[in-house]
Amino acid sequence: MGGYTIGVIGGDGIGPEVVQEALKVLAAAGVEVEAVPFDLGASAYLRTGDVLPDRILDQLRTLDAILLGAIGPPVGSTEVPAGLLERGLLLRLRFELDLYINLRPFKTPRGAATLGAAGMDLWVVRENTEGPYAGEGGALRRGTAHEVATQGSVNTRFGVERCIRYAFGLSADKGLSRVSLVHKTNVLTYAGSLWSRAFEEVGSEHPDIERDYCHVDAACIHLVERPDRFQVLVTDNLFGDILTDLAGALSGGIGLAASANLNPAGTGPSLFEPVHGAAHDIVGTGRANPLAAIRSAAMMMEHLGEAEVAARMTSAVEQVAADPAWGGRTTAELGDAVAGRLC
Ligand code: IPM
Ligand code: MN
Repeated sequence: MGGYTIGVIGGDGIGPEVVQEALKVLAAAGVEVEAVPFDLGASAYLRTGDVLPDRILDQLRTLDAILLGAIGPPVGSTEVPAGLLERGLLLRLRFELDLYINLRPFKTPRGAATLGAAGMDLWVVRENTEGPYAGEGGALRRGTAHEVATQGSVNTRFGVERCIRYAFGLSADKGLSRVSLVHKTNVLTYAGSLWSRAFEEVGSEHPDIERDYCHVDAACIHLVERPDRFQVLVTDNLFGDILTDLAGALSGGIGLAASANLNPAGTGPSLFEPVHGAAHDIVGTGRANPLAAIRSAAMMMEHLGEAEVAARMTSAVEQVAADPAWGGRTTAELGDAVAGRLC
């Protein structure tokens, strides 16, 4: 196994704590990692006044991959303007590095209680560079009684098609039999039509994979009541954001939810991060769950072509998550438990 140069953005709150456990498990798995730390996030911004300087972005572009803990100031803090870090750091990285897929796996731990009849074993493929996140829109007459605000959704044939293509490719790679498009085609008719046509056309190239469609509101019901309807779920940026919080909460909690921000074309590094936030309220208590960060690091190994290491790490995370004792363990104990089950 070759060595990898990984940019590590611990970030804010519990970010550094969970990333440390992910690095511990990578080392235990025998991966040679040169971890290059980057001081970015709310605290870095408050110290330096910079969110993401161009020269840092250029440095990040040269890496094999990026591992990120969490970004954000404490809830209720007014020192960092709303949206500054989201748009200036996280979304900027997604856009600049063309991380057009946000891949999020959800698997109910063995033995865990489920709300519905079935557990979840699902890949969400979220489009990650367009939709309402593109920043289209503006405001007029701000702060007056006649204020106007628009916030458009950008959907390009190119962006939608490459996302859907990735979803069918993933389904084929994993030996799965169904891809579900989730949208709101009955109301968002312009974007919905583009997504539906691209879905039909790309999907017809995979006659052995079933094509399924579900409105986003109904998809919320299915995720709760019969999540086994979904194997690979492909959707736009905002629907994907919302659905993946729901899926996380339903499949063992957000502390297990991992994500990969992928540039499948390989024109730059991909970025791996747990779905959860900075959780400043539990910093230093040992209560942060590192399993999502470790699972994200496993996705990083898979992306780097180390399928065997990725499978060992993922299986170890699943074993620990299925252990009834895991809820009582500290952050470091959980990291040790995963490292100890790598086999
Ligand atoms: C996520 C987060 C981000 C998003 C925020 C922090 C910009 O919620 O990764 O799901 O909305 O994509
Ligand atoms: Mn989110």
